[in-house]
Amino acid sequence: MKIGIDSIAFATSGYFLSLETLAKYRNVDFAKYCAGIGQMKMSIFPPNEDVVTVAVEAARKAISGIEDKNNVDMLIFATESSFDLSKSAGIYVHHFLKLKENCRVFDLKQACYSATAALRLAKSYVRENPDSKVLVIGSDVVKYSPRTSGEPTQGGAAVAFVVAKDPRILEIEPWAGIHTTDIMDFWRPSHLEEALFDGKLSAQNYLKSMHISVARYLEKSNIAISDVNHVCFHAPFCKMAQKANSQLFRLKSIGETLIYNSVIGNSCSASLYICFVSLLDHIKDDLTGKRIGFFSYGSGSVAEFFSGIVTKNYRQMLDTQNNQKMLTDRVEISFQEYESLGNRENLDFHSYKNVGEVAMFGINNHQRMYKVRKTY
Ligand code: COA
Repeated sequence: MKIGIDSIAFATSGYFLSLETLAKYRNVDFAKYCAGIGQMKMSIFPPNEDVVTVAVEAARKAISGIEDKNNVDMLIFATESSFDLSKSAGIYVHHFLKLKENCRVFDLKQACYSATAALRLAKSYVRENPDSKVLVIGSDVVKYSPRTSGEPTQGGAAVAFVVAKDPRILEIEPWAGIHTTDIMDFWRPSHLEEALFDGKLSAQNYLKSMHISVARYLEKSNIAISDVNHVCFHAPFCKMAQKANSQLFRLKSIGETLIYNSVIGNSCSASLYICFVSLLDHIKDDLTGKRIGFFSYGSGSVAEFFSGIVTKNYRQMLDTQNNQKMLTDRVEISFQEYESLGNRENLDFHSYKNVGEVAMFGINNHQRMYKVRKTY
């Protein structure tokens, strides 16, 4: 049975900070950010947007592509930046999308890797339940403390995809190369909103894990690396993906995979799959029948390399113009506003636009309150 990605969409907040602005105020050469790190802009989340609101928007678009949403009987929400250690963020999405009650909903966590774990779980589930569809969401908002080296690599977005039999975009192949190791390269204790990290260690471990995962994948699959036509790499910042590519493929460009991430910033669990949407939206060649490799990395760390074959007529499932418009329609914020939005005491839920239909409008008794609000 062919199983894979049947529809896919992403969403991010309606605001961004230009890294040129950040460079100016941090007294850093902008070339370091654009050429050295590979980032141009980063999405900034106002108080009324969080991992749930952008997830609802991404998921709304992803399920609009399927015939009957009553076939969705599992929703997996992958995130490392949820606000509740008990209740699943996925339950809010389930509510706003009006999915049926007879549907399993749960969150998964393993840094930026968890959407890949969700994809593998979804695939096994569909194999056992061929008429079922599984909605996988990866949604993260990435914050580092001001003036740390991580500051220009913040961002956030959600990706949502439906896993089903006879997929209309990508058939996932059976093989995967996996590498898990206990390392402190990036972590966020539950009392902190900003992540802590050892950037150099993380980059070294990312590359080492990639080589091991790819070698295991090639051994299992008996596929030559030259048989992989394109690769999407997890992109905590775009230069990381480019470095990985230069060690793996050398001559092949991955420029098309990074167009969206270079202006969104790090979106952790969503990042790899936004690379995939970016490739589909921007590559000129017909990808039908092409093998796409995916390198997923989550600090801590778990890494996985796997592949999929692009299906015929995948182009009919793309929403390229709207994806591009969503990013160009974002509002640029000033440095002063960026600082004000970074202040945890800022609870101005009403002055900012929301990208989708759902916005947060307050916190009461430690409960986030959301409402359906018209997009403007
Ligand atoms: N013009 C062009 N390039 C410049 C430059 C300039 N003026 N100044 C510096 N650079 C280059 C450096 O040579 C370096 O390139 P290299 O990596 O190829 O050597 C790059 O810019 C970054 O410079 P560096 O001094 O290493 O930056 P930094 O100490 O500020 O750290 C990150 C940058 C990306 C490592 C840091 O932002 C980070 O750790 N972010 C968090 C990422 C992470 O860990 N995510 C989780 C893992 S998945």
